[in-house]
Order: sequence, then structure tokens, then C-alpha cells
Amino acid sequence: MEKPYILHMITPTKNLSPFDVNMALDAGWDNTVGYTNVEKDEVQALVQDAIFSRGPTGVKRTGIFLGGREMYLAMDMMENCQEAMVPPFEVSCFADPSGAFTTAAGMVACAEQALKDKFDTDLTGKCVIVMGGTGPVGSTAAVLAAKAGAEVKIMGRAKDKSQRVAALCNSEYGADMIGIQGEANDMIDDVVHMADVIFAAAAAGVQVIKEKHIETSGRLKVAADVNAVPPSGIAGLDLMGNCEPIAGSKSGAVGIGALAIGNVKYQTQHRLLQEMRDSDKPIYLHFERAFEIAREIVKG
Ligand SMILES: NC(=O)c1ccc[n+]([C@@H]2O[C@H](COP(=O)([O-])OP(=O)(O)OC[C@H]3O[C@@H](n4cnc5c(N)ncnc54)[C@H](OP(=O)(O)O)[C@@H]3O)[C@@H](O)[C@H]2O)c1
Repeated sequence: MEKPYILHMITPTKNLSPFDVNMALDAGWDNTVGYTNVEKDEVQALVQDAIFSRGPTGVKRTGIFLGGREMYLAMDMMENCQEAMVPPFEVSCFADPSGAFTTAAGMVACAEQALKDKFDTDLTGKCVIVMGGTGPVGSTAAVLAAKAGAEVKIMGRAKDKSQRVAALCNSEYGADMIGIQGEANDMIDDVVHMADVIFAAAAAGVQVIKEKHIETSGRLKVAADVNAVPPSGIAGLDLMGNCEPIAGSKSGAVGIGALAIGNVKYQTQHRLLQEMRDSDKPIYLHFERAFEIAREIVKG
């Protein structure tokens, strides 16, 4: 009998995400097993327990998924996971905490494609403002945009928290070539006129960009929103909108709504789960590979 594909799903939170479980089974994993409330230092023992029981063919049909609520913790856990491997007993691992890596990859890839299609340009040197930038989706989007050459501002309700998150993104993920900055939401009226791109990644159901910001944002080209819970994170954006002009924008900006981004996110996560299942060699997947795939998807 052929061994089944087993995905061990580890999360530091109380619950595993049902969304991720569905995604894994739909991508071809036969079984998912959840481990909740897992601390970073417990990852090694769990992974080693998983790799030694199935022999060389079995490890190829075994994978680790890392969830949770934080970008940094998921990346630290992935490092611990990688260090726990004992070749040839080695399995693939994919981190996507709260879907943040695939969601941010979808959002940045959609915005980048809109810049190309509508304005014949890219993210290099563009000013990108990330509302809700201290959360998992926002901080990942900030890192991806900075690595693509943008000058990024992480916005949040408290300036010191935004600065702390910006510093972490810079030091941990190589965004320091350009330097992400942190700013308070209170300063939005002062910074919005500089924005070429706005990402709305604040908590669900919170509108962080109002009509007046769209009207006064004279350089704005693309505004993208991942919040699918009314009201929209950016005033005037349609949930399904995919590069429609935003009413009131004097600069001819286009909007990308949460469901358009969600569609790319879904395909990206599906492909990463399949890639991990089908790979002959152990692979370690996180926001960088997610962005590569999302870019391929939006190019069509
Ligand atoms: N479309 C998709 O496929 C998809 C997939 C996953 C997630 N999402 C959506 O993506 C968004 C971001 O997800 P997430 O998990 O990163 O969000 P989150 O952690 O819940 O919130 C992100 C940030 O929003 C800020 N925030 C919280 N409450 C706020 C309020 N009342 N007013 C203003 N700001 C507030 C917080 O930053 P400060 O404390 O620094 O202000 C927080 O760090 C959510 O809307 C989520 O529903 C969409």
C-alpha cells in the first residue's frame, strides 16, 4: 500500500485555521494533523518525531505547515524546523501565518501588475503606504514592496509600535537596503500626498483611507485593499474591483479590491501546498516563494 501524504500543521495559537486545513486537503494532502499552542522551542522535537517514522519514501510524503499570527514567529519556527532535519530524513515546510504570506504576496503582485499595465512603471522608488502595516499581512506586504525597490511607510495607531515593526522588518528580512519607516495613522493627512501606492491591511471592517485622502493624494496610482468585511478599508473601492478607476482620484488611480486579491492569494496558497507535496527534494516555502508564484499568476 502506498503511504498517504500527511501534513503536520503546527501553530502557536489556540486553534488551527480551518481555511488552511481545507486548502491543504484540496491541494492533495491526504491527511492533516494539527498541533496547537506550540512554542517555538517545541518545533524541533515535533519535527524529528515526524521524520524518523516513515523511511525514505515516507518522508517524501510528509510535510510541515506553520501557521500562527506573526510573521517573525513563523519565520523563526521555520528556521527551527529546518535545523531539526537529519538528512536523508528531511521533509518540506511551508509557513503562512494567518494566510499573511500568500495574502500579502497577492496584494503586492496585483499592485505591481497594475502599475505596469496602467502606468507603465514598477515599484522601484515608489512611495508605498501600508495601513495596518504592523499586522502580519501588512508587515509582509511592507517587506515585499521594499525588496521590490519601493520606499515603504508602515502606518499604525501608535508611532512607536510602527517604528518597532519597521525596524524588525529592516533587520530581519533584508529590507534595510532601502529602509522601511514607521509612522502614526494620525499623520496620514501629511503623508498621503506622497503615496504612489496605498495598501490597506488593517483589521477587518475598519476603513483606514477616506474619500478626502483619495482626493488629496495627487500622485496616487494604485490602492489595494485586503479587507473583505464592510466597510471597505479604502473608501470607494469595490470588493471585486480589479484595476477600476477610483471615484474622486485626480491622479487617475485604480483600485484593487479584497476579492480580486483573495483570488490570487487562493491560487498562490494552493500552488505552494501542491509544490510542497510534489517536490522530490525538501523545500522551505515562505513569503518570497509566495511572491514569485503570485507574480506568475497575475501575469497570466
Ligand atoms: N482578502 C484575503 O484573502 C485576506 C486573507 C487574510 C486576511 N485578510 C484581511 O487582511 C487584513 C489584515 O489581516 P491581519 O491578520 O494582518 O490583520 P490584524 O492583525 O487583525 O490587523 C492588522 C493591524 O490593524 C490595526 N488595527 C487593529 N484594529 C484597528 C482599528 N480599530 N483601527 C485601525 N487600525 C486597527 C493594528 O495595527 P496598530 O495596532 O498598529 O494600529 C493591526 O496590527 C484583515 O482585514 C483581514 O481580514 C484578507
